[in-house]
Amino acid sequence: MMMQTPDEQIEELFQQVRAADKYSHIFPELIRDLGRIELSKRRNLKEAVKATRNKLHQIGSAYQEKPIPYAKWLEELQHLPSTFNAPVTLNFIKGNLATHTSTNERLPIIERFFVETLAPIAPIHSILDLACGLTPLALPWMPVSDDIVYSACDIYQDMTDYVRSFFTHFGVNGAVKVCDLTKTVPQTRAQVAFLLKTIPCLEQLGKNAGKRLLEELQTDNILVSFPAHSLGGRSKGMVKNYESHFSELIRGKNWRITRFEFPGELTFMIQK
Ligand SMILES: C[S@@+](CC[C@H](N)C(=O)[O-])C[C@H]1O[C@@H](n2cnc3c(N)ncnc32)[C@H](O)[C@@H]1O
Repeated sequence: MMMQTPDEQIEELFQQVRAADKYSHIFPELIRDLGRIELSKRRNLKEAVKATRNKLHQIGSAYQEKPIPYAKWLEELQHLPSTFNAPVTLNFIKGNLATHTSTNERLPIIERFFVETLAPIAPIHSILDLACGLTPLALPWMPVSDDIVYSACDIYQDMTDYVRSFFTHFGVNGAVKVCDLTKTVPQTRAQVAFLLKTIPCLEQLGKNAGKRLLEELQTDNILVSFPAHSLGGRSKGMVKNYESHFSELIRGKNWRITRFEFPGELTFMIQK
């Protein structure tokens, strides 16, 4: 058999990783970049495919216990009023938020979380939501102005497509796309950036990813949070660990920090 070139190997790895449904909507560039690293570390293609999938699971799929039914939601969305205040709309959105572990954990505090953390800078007129998950759907619970501009990105094409349709339905001025935050720091200007429960995921891909984002984002305010318990539900001293990790990330910076401790979410507002 003829030896494969490195490009052919990457392509084969990419096809094999994407063959599993749960990885089929992930930003192709990210899969190829991770694959390239794993191919250089592992003994063969099979091991590299497995390692790439493991990484993608840890940083993304682990938060989606079941496939998210975007097609069904899109259908239902068409029958909803196009304003947020109807109870039927808010119930539908809460149902959506519950399908992603991260937003599901925030549901019990959804009435307080954004109102309290954003109070000093409210009303918000522009948001840059990084590694957004389904958080943009929580817009009805955010203290925003009517002309809010909401930019968001994540590694999932199907998720970002849905968030875009959601914004279109409710007439929100939004820009939603796929991204790899370990590769590119978005330079979009906004009143506040969200980095919610995301830094630990990004640091699994690149040790300095969180620090670099905090330093290079072009927003005066950054709302950062960390999970206060693991996906399995144990707390294992996580608040203490993330508290000291956050101190490391901001060491030497002359930034104003406000700390909030919600059940399940240790949160900091950075004002530069
Ligand atoms: C723990 S979830 C948090 C989601 C959301 N921020 C929230 O608080 O509900 C982590 C998110 O990071 C995304 N993610 C992981 N690696 C990423 C990367 N390199 N670039 C952009 N997003 C990434 C995942 O897809 C997932 O949606």
